[in-house]
Amino acid sequence: MLSIGARDIFEGEFELPGDKSITHRAIMLNSGADGEATITNALMGEDCVSTCRCMRSLGANIEVDGTTLRVSGTPRFRRGTELNCGNSGTTIRLLTGFVAGKGVDAKLYGDDSLSSRPMNRVAEPLALLGANVQTTDGRAPVYVYPSELRGARVELKIASAQVKSAVLLAGISAEGETVVSQPVRSRDHTERMLAAMGADICVDGNSVKVKKSTLTAVDVCVPSDISSAAYFMALGALKGKTLCKNVGINPTRTGILTAFDKLGVQYSLLNKRVSGGEETADILVQRSDMQGITLTAEDVPAMIDELPLVALLCAFADGESRITGAKELRVKESDRVKTTAELIRNIGGECEELPDGFIIRGKKKLTGGIVNSYLDHRIAMTGAVGLIASEKGGDIVDPDCCAISFPDFFDKLGVKSY
Ligand code: S3P
Repeated sequence: MLSIGARDIFEGEFELPGDKSITHRAIMLNSGADGEATITNALMGEDCVSTCRCMRSLGANIEVDGTTLRVSGTPRFRRGTELNCGNSGTTIRLLTGFVAGKGVDAKLYGDDSLSSRPMNRVAEPLALLGANVQTTDGRAPVYVYPSELRGARVELKIASAQVKSAVLLAGISAEGETVVSQPVRSRDHTERMLAAMGADICVDGNSVKVKKSTLTAVDVCVPSDISSAAYFMALGALKGKTLCKNVGINPTRTGILTAFDKLGVQYSLLNKRVSGGEETADILVQRSDMQGITLTAEDVPAMIDELPLVALLCAFADGESRITGAKELRVKESDRVKTTAELIRNIGGECEELPDGFIIRGKKKLTGGIVNSYLDHRIAMTGAVGLIASEKGGDIVDPDCCAISFPDFFDKLGVKSY
């Protein structure tokens, strides 16, 4: 349990940790590439540590020096490995596709939360390429057996970057051409990194085409994670003024800014530049009066991990908000429709669950209370923002899960843990 006090003002300049999605891909793809690469500003949260552990088991050499990683790749993976993916959905889903094309067998497994999450969403599209991937009743452990892959057309029903990436990482080992399409565009870090590593890849709207390719190692300078910056941006909007430095603003990730536009949050993007193929900026956010908003399925993929926080902001806004098309939240590290609604209610807000989202009646002032993280990092961090912005503050049950994506979150927030 961690006590979080309410604050009248929250101001400051923040350097946030490296982007989780980009760090996973930089480690994984360089581990399966020809040559050596240096990754700087890597996120060394528990999920990315899981990716390092798996890639070492498959034969890559990875040296870690703070947030700088040196990766020596191995285009051929070791046989018969047991890959512990910990809590990380990105690790297990991307790696299932990557391993499936390498002609080796492997078992991929994880913790209780990961073992409850759906894996058929990767096994089924990979089967269209001829992959032999067996799940355990649709979940982990997942077993991959060697097979020759052939290119295929894969039409995904859900907008998931993890599933799309699994197909692309198998597609680069398949004979011929693989085309994967999805209903709404999801984050495109895999596409960008594959292109930078020399893969034959082409993006056309919501579909991506790859051909058989070998990868050449590439250095990656990881921008700060907008999903981590979002908590500090939200505190700026609620309680003062914050500047988050060097944040990745890849357009497939900036849904939080779309939500800010609708809520009426004042922000500016300063010092815009491009680094390592990804756009970055310093994001300045100022205290703003917010009004209720409507978000639908089209808006969701670009803010999928920020939706609990966006729902919380709606609880502090004037009027009613309606968020729909977000059924995917139910299969994250926790059922985030349920855990977010409970979080908002426990600190004095009004939030009703919908099958695929929320109705939130904004109150402007919330009292505070006790927030259970349910061991979900995004719920713990959203809870911390809610308590700081509340009238009386409160406690977070199981706060340490923040280490999954943001190990020094509470230090940066200025909250002491005992
Ligand atoms: C991620 C994709 C998203 C996101 C997750 C990271 C990725 O998951 O929620 O935190 O790095 O590809 P889905 O693909 O399941 O939407």
